Amino acid sequence: MSTYADFHQRSLTDRDGFWGEQAQLVDWKVPPQQICDYSNPPFAKWFVGGITNLCHNAVDRHLATRPDQAALIFVSTETNQEIVYSFRELHAEVQRMAAVLKDLGVQKGDRVLIYMPMIPEAAFAMLACTRIGAIHSVVFGGFASGSLASRIEDAEPKVVVSADAGSRGGKPVPYKPLLDEALRLSKYKPEAVLLVDRGMAAMDLVAGRDHLWGALREKNLNTVVECEWVDATHPSYTLYTSGTTGKPKGVQRDTGGYCVALAASMKHIYAGNAGETYFSTSDIGWVVGHSYIIYGPLIAGMATIMYEGLPTRPDGGIWWSLVEKYKVTVMFSAPTAVRVLKKQDPALLTKYDLSSLRALFLAGEPLDEPTAQWISTGLGKPIIDNYWQTETGWPILSLCNGVEKAVSKFGSPGKAVYGYDVKLLDDQTGEELKGANQKGVVAVEGPLPPGCMQTVWRDDERFVNTYWKSVPGRLVYSTFDWGIRDADGYYFILGRTDDVINVAGHRLGTREIEESISAHPNIAEVAVVGVADQLKGQVAMAFAVLKNASLITDEASALALEAEVFKLVDRDLGAVARPARVRFVTVLPKTRSGKCLRRAIAAVCEGRDPGDLTTMDDPAALQQIKDLISA
Ligand code: PRX
Repeated sequence: MSTYADFHQRSLTDRDGFWGEQAQLVDWKVPPQQICDYSNPPFAKWFVGGITNLCHNAVDRHLATRPDQAALIFVSTETNQEIVYSFRELHAEVQRMAAVLKDLGVQKGDRVLIYMPMIPEAAFAMLACTRIGAIHSVVFGGFASGSLASRIEDAEPKVVVSADAGSRGGKPVPYKPLLDEALRLSKYKPEAVLLVDRGMAAMDLVAGRDHLWGALREKNLNTVVECEWVDATHPSYTLYTSGTTGKPKGVQRDTGGYCVALAASMKHIYAGNAGETYFSTSDIGWVVGHSYIIYGPLIAGMATIMYEGLPTRPDGGIWWSLVEKYKVTVMFSAPTAVRVLKKQDPALLTKYDLSSLRALFLAGEPLDEPTAQWISTGLGKPIIDNYWQTETGWPILSLCNGVEKAVSKFGSPGKAVYGYDVKLLDDQTGEELKGANQKGVVAVEGPLPPGCMQTVWRDDERFVNTYWKSVPGRLVYSTFDWGIRDADGYYFILGRTDDVINVAGHRLGTREIEESISAHPNIAEVAVVGVADQLKGQVAMAFAVLKNASLITDEASALALEAEVFKLVDRDLGAVARPARVRFVTVLPKTRSGKCLRRAIAAVCEGRDPGDLTTMDDPAALQQIKDLISA
């Protein structure tokens, strides 16, 4: 057996021995007494009895060895700012933020909702929360009031941290009005709102509720806030993600397991070393931002680049110029970003000195072969596709080049990562598919390794029923992705089994978009499906039935109504969720029992065979969609 096969095998057969060793990569106030308690499946408790702190491991731990080394490198091509914070400076800023949060009443176990652009204060806020044992819940800045309100209601944060505005393409995008509207919509009202004023958009402050970071920071320049030592199983954060229903799930993460999992992944998967620079182009609103902009690189003692801006501004060479300037060794991005760069001058890929860069990791959506080939040839660097989910927090499938060098196969995110007992299962029978190249649901046998979700926030039942009971007859974790495995153990991901779509690497639930569109007074019914797109991977397409069909008399009236729906979705969920098109039909294709045939609609939109339609109620319904698409 190869070294990696042994390594993976041992992680499953000698689970406690394996993870007990990995646990030594991080600092503990009190070392764990038990590595894994799986006495109550599917709930796994990792590093029981261990006491630690995530912020300590990301920041304080490095003060002894590398206080003046860069920790957080903030680059904004939106505001033309570049600020480098050393570990010492980051430590000071995080303590200031922690002091302010405490003054606003935040205590251990309280939630703090963070709705912010990609600015250093967002990182300070996350680290300040874990420093004091508060649970952060970051909401992607591209989401609008409706999405934000539902997350505020579920998280019940004591404080919301936000800013006056983000910026896109050089234009301010105000956040405060969206937050105010969300707070108006939400039945739960937080006690305080802490606002970073970037001087980009005017803010109406609510007396007694809204506070400015700038002034409170000044009062706490030298305040010392020690780390709150917490149990390994203490929740560090929740992060909302989409599923089949309209209600987003709060993925809850622990402290000790996450810390160990990230430290181990930095060594075995990303192969980054202390003193080097890591550059992930994601956003703190997504799981990649949590794990590999903030915590992972910092835990490893690396400098991390936080980039606000577009990949194409001032030109398509901006990211590579940062690789040269900051001697980036490990980079992480998404296939969509590479497809965007593909449209730029290819000479930009070779304009800068990229000799420091060892590998580019891509994740979040399927990496198509032409895109992988293009960037691999252009950069002359290994491209490593890795597959995982908000739920897992770190890769399920990847190459572990830190353990043993392996070759990438285009189109495959690699093999099962250590700690994950990955299976392909027949979706109908639950039977394991052991042969090569058989298509099944990608599943993971419990316990999930450290760092993966503990539960759904305040909803253990939903955690069990959603994730562990979807495959008949087995208690097994479902990823809701289809996959195959070749004879060499390399997996290929073939898309979701549920109604989640992936637009430009952003995970969206079609049901949430449907709910938003249904709020339009003239819409009776709507189906949203994901349709393949050259640039974004997928886009959302909506098909709506009007309450009063006579509203549409011609193309112009249809476009006007479509524009109204766009506006509604933008305001409610945010432009990220806006469908590419809204088309109007008189009836949706359904089964005789009334289930909407979304898969058949998607197939028709992509020019594929819609499959078995014997249960369809009214064949004319699908024909209408076909006619619209081909018109
Ligand atoms: O469908 C898979 C797809 O994105 C989903 C998870 O999205 P999210 O929760 O936003 O987490 C992203 C973490 C990188 C998965 O269920 N996905 C993610 N990575 C890949 C992928 N599909 C194919 N290849 C990948 N490398």
